[in-house]
Amino acid sequence: MNTSLLTSLQETKDTFPINGTDFIEFYVGNAKQTALYYQHCFGFDLIAYKGPETGSRDVISYVLQQNKIRFVISSALQPDHEILQHVALHGDGVKVLALWVDDAKEAYHLAIEKGAESAFEPVVLEDKNGTVVMAAIQTYGETIHTLVERKNYQGAFLPGFEARTSRYKASPIGLKYVDHCVGNVELGDMNKWVSFYENVLGFKLLVTFDDKDISTEYTALMSKVVSNGNGFIKFPINEPAKGRKKSQIEEYLDFYKGAGVQHIAIATDNILDTVTQLKDRGVEFLYVPETYYDDVLDRVGKIDEDLEDLKKLNILVDRDEEGYLLQIFTKPVMDRPTVFYEIIQRHGARSFGKGNFKALFEAIEREQELRGTL
Ligand code: FE2
Repeated sequence: MNTSLLTSLQETKDTFPINGTDFIEFYVGNAKQTALYYQHCFGFDLIAYKGPETGSRDVISYVLQQNKIRFVISSALQPDHEILQHVALHGDGVKVLALWVDDAKEAYHLAIEKGAESAFEPVVLEDKNGTVVMAAIQTYGETIHTLVERKNYQGAFLPGFEARTSRYKASPIGLKYVDHCVGNVELGDMNKWVSFYENVLGFKLLVTFDDKDISTEYTALMSKVVSNGNGFIKFPINEPAKGRKKSQIEEYLDFYKGAGVQHIAIATDNILDTVTQLKDRGVEFLYVPETYYDDVLDRVGKIDEDLEDLKKLNILVDRDEEGYLLQIFTKPVMDRPTVFYEIIQRHGARSFGKGNFKALFEAIEREQELRGTL
């Protein structure tokens, strides 16, 4: 084998195999009500539960699922519990981005060897449905990546949880999988975290946006997107850039009290239907002016959808070399202006809607102005 072939083979080897996102866990002040919000508004099904009735004396968790998306909504019963201290500092937010691996011990030790900071060491959890191995490493802020090995487990979620369904059945709204999950980090920290994903978890840098790509008259930000070996996991990392006024990233950092997850983008195959249902169920979205639609087709060319339908729902369109995408952003779903959702439908495009950044950030600035935080 010649050296150049060997090098290219080594370059394509996945140094940290991850099958996909296992779950996303939110720490909240009232898990019962938040779980019902995601069932009612987003059409998730309740699949598992732990709480005092199942022997969990201090933590209550509801596990919700829709297609490949699994959310865990957790709260605690005592004020000095780590979950409620997290909520007191950050408000409701994302604590865990769990990664599904084949061998959690090996993955954990590899990550630590390469410089990751431990969140907890490998533990083996067991019940009548089998065993799960978990360990966790720190990422930006207080967020962690739990590594989950579940190949020997057949239960509803994890040992300690009971399968649970709800009498309340909201119809699903076509949410398929997590497309990408975005983190906001402090000024000057973006490259540090991009290096962490590259060096520790074997991610590749997919794309870079600088403040010339993402700026309005008032504010700016910079962003780099990293992706894992099989391409299923994409983590854009944002940091604020200097502008005339306070950027949305600074507003997030002020309210979240540090770095954390900013938005979760969820894929659908029918954004018109998904967004119609979300709006009917009370989810609020950012608004772009109608003039956005005057020349959008000049920019993106022919699309399958009727422009009037997109305009009615305020859905945005963008195109890259591989196709086009449709996207829309909710207002923050927490009390603090922190975590929000993106709904995205891809027609070939693998990018992130760069052509919409300006209209989108102006929409966020209008909201900031209402909050008095611009
Ligand atoms: Fe996004």
